[in-house]
Amino acid sequence: MNLRLRKPKISDIKSFRKIFNDKELVKQLSGYKYPLSLSEAKNKLQEIINLNKKGNHHEFAIIYNNQFVGLVCLEKPSKDKKTFTLGYAVGRKYWNKGLASKAVENGLNFGFSKLKLKRIIADNNKDNPASARVLEKNGFSFIKEIKKKRGKIGRKINILCWEKKLK
Ligand SMILES: CC(C)(COP(=O)(O)OP(=O)(O)OC[C@H]1O[C@@H](n2cnc3c(N)ncnc32)[C@H](O)[C@@H]1OP(=O)(O)O)[C@@H](O)C(=O)NCCC(=O)NCCS
Repeated sequence: MNLRLRKPKISDIKSFRKIFNDKELVKQLSGYKYPLSLSEAKNKLQEIINLNKKGNHHEFAIIYNNQFVGLVCLEKPSKDKKTFTLGYAVGRKYWNKGLASKAVENGLNFGFSKLKLKRIIADNNKDNPASARVLEKNGFSFIKEIKKKRGKIGRKINILCWEKKLK
């Protein structure tokens, strides 16, 4: 599979907006709004680029056949910086081709090998079985189900919590 990760650039803006200006996609994410105007998309992408410079946030563009198709991220470190939280999204047009699974595999390798993490955690909405499957395929273990307010939705939703430890 012709897939690689690299740091996002402001020149990714067109593809970035196309992918994230999607109501169904962003309802599974926190930190994104819909609709996403071009200027809001630019701000969001610039925010990611700035966060990447700080050292506690590692967000990669997923490049498939030389196209920007999504993002994978390690963020929100624990106090000892040995645990990070994984996030990911792939544009709807590219779903069910194994791209998120491969991108997550690459992200995990980065986390365990380069960042020397001991544990990577993730969570997904219970109504998002594709996301749970991506985690399962990458060897995550299910920890627990919780009810949590997500984003500005205002109501509590069921969230599945997962972890993968360094072998
Ligand atoms: C979740 C998401 C990243 C998956 O991306 P993807 O590139 O399609 O993922 P993959 O193709 O690697 O794997 C998807 C798996 O889910 C399975 N799947 C898809 N829809 C499913 C469904 N409704 N029920 C059960 N399994 C489903 C696929 O069959 C595949 O499993 P398989 O390889 O065993 O057949 C993508 O749908 C997305 O970006 N969604 C919006 C953002 C999001 O949810 N991010 C995660 C937040 S926790």
